[in-house]
Amino acid sequence: MAAAVLPTLRDGDVTLRPIRARDAKPLERVLLENRAWLRQWEATYPGGGSVIDTRGSIRNLLAHARSGNGLPFIIEYDGRLVGQLNVSSITFGSLSSASIGYWVSQEYAGRGITPTAVALATDHCFSVLRLHRMEICIRPENGPSLRVVEKLGFRYEGLRRRFIHINGDWRDHFAFALVAEEVRRGVLRRWREGRVPVDAARIPPEDRAAAASPLHLTDH
Ligand SMILES: CC(C)(COP(=O)(O)OP(=O)(O)OC[C@H]1O[C@@H](n2cnc3c(N)ncnc32)[C@H](O)[C@@H]1OP(=O)(O)O)[C@@H](O)C(=O)NCCC(=O)NCCS
Repeated sequence: MAAAVLPTLRDGDVTLRPIRARDAKPLERVLLENRAWLRQWEATYPGGGSVIDTRGSIRNLLAHARSGNGLPFIIEYDGRLVGQLNVSSITFGSLSSASIGYWVSQEYAGRGITPTAVALATDHCFSVLRLHRMEICIRPENGPSLRVVEKLGFRYEGLRRRFIHINGDWRDHFAFALVAEEVRRGVLRRWREGRVPVDAARIPPEDRAAAASPLHLTDH
């Protein structure tokens, strides 16, 4: 499949626009200012250090976009760069699925920017790319991010043990997803119209309890 054209998506003051090489400097500034805010949730490489290489990571994101595997967005609020949203692991065919990751700067947290951005990206993936399933995985400790999926009614799917390398180690994640047929008229619209099912993102107590105790893996 050829690379999808990167769109600009908008709702009110929130804009998702394609990342570009010249975002490196302003993005690096926001990332450095938000070091403490972001570190706990940042994807890391097994065995790697934690050098910020904004230019390199933009190059990487753009390469993924060119090969059709990702949609790398900058989140703007009222015209200011306030965060990133990446659609990654795009697959077509029998799976037709993708994942979403995101962050906003601490200064702009709590204004509903991320749920709006996630809804815009999800609606684009369903209606334009014709993907079937969108997934978001969140660390059990990340209350604010769990609120994002709760607000939008992403469905809880389960606990994934030691799933993604975050802040220096393999971390458990809760997985949430939506499939296109449960939001035929759009995720943004469903949220704005107050039609989000209240329990969709509810995490069963047994999964919460399991996530609270470390998993001891043994190799027999
Ligand atoms: C998770 C995150 C993306 C949420 O983005 P957002 O645009 O603030 O989303 P919302 O405005 O919907 O707020 C979500 C929840 O964050 C919490 N919150 C609000 N303001 C906050 C603040 N200043 N500081 C911390 N948490 C705050 C509230 O619980 C809020 O839920 P509520 O609206 O029911 O009160 C953002 O907190 C963030 O970037 N965190 C650091 C990086 C990260 O965790 N990325 C996601 C990894 S899965």
